[in-house]
Amino acid sequence: MRYLVTGTAGFIGFHLARRLLREGHEVVGIDGLTTYYDVLLKQRRLAILQEFPGFSPYEFMLEDEAAVIRVFEETKPEIVVHLAAQAGVRYSIENPRAYINANVVGTFNVLEACRFHPVKHLVLASTSSAYGANEKTPFEETDKSIHPITLYAATKTSTELMAHCYAHLFAIPTTAFRFFTVYGPWGRPDMAYYIFARKILAGEPIEIFNNGESYRDFTYIDDLVESIVRLVAAPPAFPADRSGEPAPAIDTLSPVAPYRMVNIGGGHPVKLMDFVEEIETALGVTAQKVLKPLPPGDVVGTYASAELLQHVIGYKPDTPLSVGIPAFVEWYRAHVN
Ligand SMILES: NC(=O)c1ccc[n+]([C@@H]2O[C@H](COP(=O)([O-])OP(=O)(O)OC[C@H]3O[C@@H](n4cnc5c(N)ncnc54)[C@H](O)[C@@H]3O)[C@@H](O)[C@H]2O)c1
Repeated sequence: MRYLVTGTAGFIGFHLARRLLREGHEVVGIDGLTTYYDVLLKQRRLAILQEFPGFSPYEFMLEDEAAVIRVFEETKPEIVVHLAAQAGVRYSIENPRAYINANVVGTFNVLEACRFHPVKHLVLASTSSAYGANEKTPFEETDKSIHPITLYAATKTSTELMAHCYAHLFAIPTTAFRFFTVYGPWGRPDMAYYIFARKILAGEPIEIFNNGESYRDFTYIDDLVESIVRLVAAPPAFPADRSGEPAPAIDTLSPVAPYRMVNIGGGHPVKLMDFVEEIETALGVTAQKVLKPLPPGDVVGTYASAELLQHVIGYKPDTPLSVGIPAFVEWYRAHVN
C-alpha cells in the first residue's frame, strides 16, 4: 500500500510511519518541521525513517496548497493519514492563529487534494478536547461536542465537520479519530509526562494543576498505532452499501456519507497524582510538587468510551501506565540529556 502521512516528523506520525515501513508499505511523509518544540527531536525522528527505502519525505507547510496537490499528483497515495496539526491546548491561547492556519487551512488543503485525487480511505486526527466542557462520562462519540473551551478544540471539531462535507460531496471514505492523551518514547516535550521527567531529574519542582484532582485517559503510543492500523483497514461503508445488520448502541456512521468518527482511548482514566507517582517510581526520584489551580482552557478530566472502537476493530488500548511510563523513562534516559 502507498500511504501519505502528514506530520511524519511528529510524535505520532513518526511511530505510525515506522510501523508501516517495517511492514513493507511505502510511506510518503509531509512535515513542515514547525518550531513549536525542539526541531532537532523532529529531525532525529525523520533520520530513523530515512533509513527505510520505502520512505519519501517532503518538507513544507500544508498551507501551501500547490505543494500539497503536487505531492498527491506525484505519489498517488491510496491511503491518507492526516496527523499534522498545531497541537497543544495551552499554546492555543497564546498563538491562536497558528491553529487556524495549520488545522483549518492545512486540513482544507488536504481535503481538496483528496477531492481531486481519490483515495481508498482518508483518516484524520481529532482530539478528546472536542468534548470540551462536557461533564457526562465516559465521553461517547454520540455526545454533543458543541462547547469547546479552546481554539485548539474548536479547530479540531471544525476539521471533523469539514471532512464530513467532503466525504458526502465527493464520496471520500473518511474516519476521524479522537485521540486521548498519547504518551511514550519519542514523545512531545510540551506534554506533562515529558515536562515532569525533565524537571524531576533536574531537581526542579513540578506544577500540579487543579491540586492534583484532574484525570486523564492515557493512551500508550503502540496501542494508538495498533488502533490506527486496524481502523485504516475498516473504512466506513457508503450509506447505500450498509446491510440490515443491527447497529451498535453507539455509532457515528453518517446517514449521508461514508464517514465515521471514533474515540481512540482505553476507557481507564487516571488521577494526575497517580500518574505523577508512576513517573516517580520509574525515575526512582520523589518530585517536589507545587499545587496550582486549573489553568484556563484545561478540562478537569477526559474519559473515553471505547465501545465503538472495540466494535469496529475488536481491540482497544490496554497498556497500563506501569508498563508505558517505564518504557518512556527508559527512552528518555537513553536519548535526552
Ligand atoms: N499527542 C496527543 O496526546 C494527541 C492528543 C489528541 C490529538 N492529537 C493530534 O494528533 C496529531 C499528531 O499529534 P502529535 O502528538 O504527533 O503532535 P506533534 O506536534 O508531535 O506532530 C505534529 C507534526 O505536524 C507538523 N506540522 C504542524 N503544523 C504543520 C503544518 N501546517 N504543515 C505541515 N506540518 C505541520 C509539526 O512539525 C509536527 O512534526 C495532531 O493532529 C494532534 O492534534 C494528539
